[in-house]
Amino acid sequence: MSTPHNQAEVGQIAKTVLMPGDPLRAKFLAEKYLENVEQFNSVRNMFGYTGTYKGKPVSVMASGMGMPSMGIYCYELYTMYDVERIIRIGTCGSLQEDVHIRDIILAQGACTDSNYAHQYELPGTFSAISTFNLLQQAATLCKEKGLNYHVGNVISSDIFYHQDDCNGKWAKMGCLAVEMETYALFTTAASLKKEAMALFTVSDSLVSNEKTSADEREKTFTEMMDVALGLI
Ligand code: HPA
Repeated sequence: MSTPHNQAEVGQIAKTVLMPGDPLRAKFLAEKYLENVEQFNSVRNMFGYTGTYKGKPVSVMASGMGMPSMGIYCYELYTMYDVERIIRIGTCGSLQEDVHIRDIILAQGACTDSNYAHQYELPGTFSAISTFNLLQQAATLCKEKGLNYHVGNVISSDIFYHQDDCNGKWAKMGCLAVEMETYALFTTAASLKKEAMALFTVSDSLVSNEKTSADEREKTFTEMMDVALGLI
């Protein structure tokens, strides 16, 4: 069995999937950290790999950018490939003065400006949250490793190039950072009774306008990966 977006056969994907946005990150990660790696997907270059980490099976597959893309891949992984937990490993833009570039953010919850949850026809607004167990473990690992990390709400936005200062309004509500996928992941997981968690490195700051260099992104990505692999 395959889907229009994923050529994997059932059984080729592990119960835990690490999900960066960028397919080349997925490739890099599989090659650098996993053993016995097999590629299971290349449809639309949305690369997916399964291997082992310290003997435990794990898969890594890209989500692409934005909630429509994340929505497709995570729904298929959960419903057609028996995946139990998806851990998003991405980048985000800081919305708070005390959240600096290179810091790590663990998403406790995600707000959104998207209508992704309208499909569930709820009589109100759905609050998308991470799986507590994974969040708690990730926080413990960050603390043990002495990393600069923050736990809290993020805003998952449909729009990268905003016409006005929407991000400032979310910042006033305490959102730590902006990114573009987590609300869809958490909401899909909740609807299917599956597990999900998201962690990011802060790649840029919408407060100070600082940006990380490619080298810095590499280093902070490595720190975040160590945390994510500790969750497997
Ligand atoms: N906006 C949205 N998504 C992002 C950003 C941003 O500034 N930085 C990294 N992901």
